[in-house]
Amino acid sequence: MSQRFIVLFLSVLTSSIVSLGYTQDHSPRDNSFDLGCKCGPRDECWPTFEEWGALNSSVSGKLIQNSPPAISCYPGPQQNDATCAAITTELTNSTFVANDPVALDYPVDDGCPVPLAGQPLGNCSLGGIPVYTVNATCPEDVALAIDFARNHNIRLVVRNTGHDILGRSTGYGSLEVWIRYLRQGITFQNQYAASDGCPSSWSGSALMISGGYVWKDAYSVAQENDVVIVGGGDPSVGCIGGWAQGGGHSPASRDFGLGADQILEAQVALADGRVVTANPCQNSDIYTAIRGGGGGTYGVVLSTTVKAHPQTNVVAQILSLAPTSDAYILEFMDALAMMYSAYPDFNDAGFSGYGSWAVESNAPVVGNSATGYNHVIAMFNKSLSEAEAAFAPVETQFSEQNGTSIAVNVTYLEFPTYQAYYQTLSGNQGTVGTSGAVGSHFLDRSALTKSKSALLEMLNVTAGAPGQFISTNVALVSGGQVHADASDKFSGVNPDWRTAYVHNIVAGGWAPGSNASVIATKHHDITYNKIGALRKLAPDLGSYMNEADMFDPLYLSDFYGGRLAFLEGVKERYDPLSVFYCRTCVGSNLWEEDGEGRLCYRG
Ligand SMILES: Cc1cc2nc3c(=O)[nH]c(=O)nc-3n(C[C@H](O)[C@H](O)[C@H](O)COP(=O)(O)OP(=O)(O)OC[C@H]3O[C@@H](n4cnc5c(N)ncnc54)[C@H](O)[C@@H]3O)c2cc1C
Ligand SMILES: *[C@@H]1O[C@H](CO)[C@@H](O)[C@H](O)[C@H]1NC(C)=O
Ligand SMILES: *[C@@H]1O[C@H](CO)[C@@H](O)[C@H](O)[C@H]1NC(C)=O
Ligand SMILES: *[C@@H]1O[C@H](CO)[C@@H](O)[C@H](O)[C@H]1NC(C)=O
Ligand SMILES: *[C@@H]1O[C@H](CO)[C@@H](O)[C@H](O)[C@H]1NC(C)=O
Ligand SMILES: *[C@@H]1O[C@H](CO)[C@@H](O)[C@H](O)[C@H]1NC(C)=O
Ligand SMILES: *[C@@H]1O[C@H](CO)[C@@H](O)[C@H](O)[C@H]1NC(C)=O
Ligand SMILES: *[C@@H]1O[C@H](CO)[C@@H](O)[C@H](O)[C@H]1NC(C)=O
Ligand SMILES: *[C@@H]1O[C@H](CO)[C@@H](O)[C@H](O)[C@H]1NC(C)=O
Ligand SMILES: *[C@@H]1O[C@H](CO)[C@@H](O)[C@H](O)[C@H]1NC(C)=O
Repeated sequence: MSQRFIVLFLSVLTSSIVSLGYTQDHSPRDNSFDLGCKCGPRDECWPTFEEWGALNSSVSGKLIQNSPPAISCYPGPQQNDATCAAITTELTNSTFVANDPVALDYPVDDGCPVPLAGQPLGNCSLGGIPVYTVNATCPEDVALAIDFARNHNIRLVVRNTGHDILGRSTGYGSLEVWIRYLRQGITFQNQYAASDGCPSSWSGSALMISGGYVWKDAYSVAQENDVVIVGGGDPSVGCIGGWAQGGGHSPASRDFGLGADQILEAQVALADGRVVTANPCQNSDIYTAIRGGGGGTYGVVLSTTVKAHPQTNVVAQILSLAPTSDAYILEFMDALAMMYSAYPDFNDAGFSGYGSWAVESNAPVVGNSATGYNHVIAMFNKSLSEAEAAFAPVETQFSEQNGTSIAVNVTYLEFPTYQAYYQTLSGNQGTVGTSGAVGSHFLDRSALTKSKSALLEMLNVTAGAPGQFISTNVALVSGGQVHADASDKFSGVNPDWRTAYVHNIVAGGWAPGSNASVIATKHHDITYNKIGALRKLAPDLGSYMNEADMFDPLYLSDFYGGRLAFLEGVKERYDPLSVFYCRTCVGSNLWEEDGEGRLCYRG
């Protein structure tokens, strides 16, 4: 089962909603440089046609003038019914999205939505997407794009796959530097050696990933060398971008650590255009910041060298839980609470993986039941009997109710290798292209086990009322090595990962074509009611920035926790002019979007 959101009744976010939370400032826009705004495409300071042409020449013709992915659906020279008919499906395919310079898995500020059948055709504009893209194929292209944006005071966006769900790989009136086709190879090192001889505590194997590869590419090199690497649950996620730099959980993270903690060394293009090596011996503060402090804001990572781990056998457990009828939803909730409270012990015994649940959903969740819970969790390097023994205490509790109020189905599967497990039960490419309101929160042992009534209250609120169509994804991916890596002094990861067991994601959708107030109400419900209930249960913990609420008013403390002050220091030292900016990223609170969408300094 891949890690993805079950968002029901989805549609595309409208720009009016996304601009919530950003000040609508209609200041005059002559002299914009002095006002502390980045140059927008309508400003006099915007580079001339000739200047863009010079940039294009310097990157050997790799400058793209962007157009919206759905432009073929609107009147104009590019209108094409067949292309338009295909785009709806294509935008649910994350590989298609990744191959487009500006399409997004979860669109924000969409100025050119795919038209809905039976609804009047609106307007098509660039909206919030970048104006130009440098399709970088070598580190020099990246440095030239950075220099151009800095010298002309224009907004710069860093993009890899476009998977981001918080709008961090897009931006109005910007130049995008796109690293997807920066591909200089993936190489296996039997024993890791730093490029500069920097001593390392890691004596195992490593994989050097030089460029915008996705995990599917890296997994095949790992398989050829019979090693395990920590990568995305979905094989279409980028290896060196936002996933790793923001934390990076995986079916293998409990046993081998978070994605960020795998990085032994990186090559980074900085705001001043220099390309540097970052490891514990040189540029160690940048090295630390990109290991968990979030992508898109300290520099552009060009390559990473990551740990490779010994091959292991895997025992997986597939479990489903549902009420035997709608009369037993409260009994189901009780069983769900039992499951949640068992997670810390399961995890300590070696289990990790992903689950999901919903109550009175709009589609069947387990068998024919619209209420239910599913998970796939697994143990590495253990026997079937060890896995069964770890589950036995919960199985005994379930068996009393099994068949009367709830139906429990447990299956075990054994795999000789991690790859066999991943390919069978995890690494499916999920469907994207839809949006809903998403929020998340970490849960530690105390939140999960201290009070059953408090836990039940959280589950009751996050379940939502019938018709709200809320669903939850449970990522039981911390614990184990993620906790042990708390001792890594070069970690930029939110320290809340070091005590959390669960990253709990709540999502809610809306009917296609819903108006702005319906969408705003849904976001408000997720931000304040649903996440509020999780926050009440675990008030000292924050959330995982890569799968979080883009409207979280407490994002700085929630996403960065105890690392915030350090990360802000790195940002200030390496990028004092904010050449890099992304929503909710470190340093973003110093800027706001004006009425047009331009970035303006607020200090
Ligand atoms: C289908 C799907 C499956 C997912 N599965 C998982 C999962 O299993 N585990 C998990 O932890 N998360 C998962 N996520 C969330 C994922 O971690 C984030 O979407 C993440 O931002 C993706 O990073 P990217 O580089 O691929 O995407 P992008 O959208 O291209 O970039 C995301 C952010 O990283 C920055 N960035 C990209 N490349 C670079 C670079 N080279 N240098 C500096 N900054 C860069 C961008 O500016 C942006 O801020 C999933 C998301 C999707 C859509
Ligand atoms: C950049 O140059 C190439 C090759 O000359 C050309 O095809 C492309 O259209 C140019 N890009 C822009 C934005 O003008
Ligand atoms: C997804 O898109 C890619 C690239 O366009 C294509 O090769 C692939 O066949 C598509 N997958 C599906 C399931 O349509
Ligand atoms: C489209 O643009 C025109 C001209 O700017 C404007 O009058 C009209 O209201 C817009 N339509 C929609 C649906 O936004
Ligand atoms: C980007 O560059 C790559 C490599 O040269 C090329 O294959 C791809 O088609 C380009 N993409 C676009 C949208 O121009
Ligand atoms: C597997 O477990 C054994 C002990 O049971 C241990 O010696 C070995 O190092 C472990 N292997 C891995 C890959 O963790
Ligand atoms: C639940 O009951 C069913 C039907 O009696 C049985 O097949 C199944 O093994 C039971 N599940 C558990 C976990 O005990
Ligand atoms: C139990 O789960 C297995 C594996 O997912 C599935 O094949 C089987 O059909 C399920 N049985 C019931 C009774 O739901
Ligand atoms: C939540 O609690 C309310 C009030 O006790 C109850 O009516 C409702 O059925 C509960 N819902 C769930 C899913 O537990
Ligand atoms: C938005 O849609 C909802 C549900 O269809 C409706 O009740 C409400 O009046 C609409 N609001 C506006 C401002 O159009």
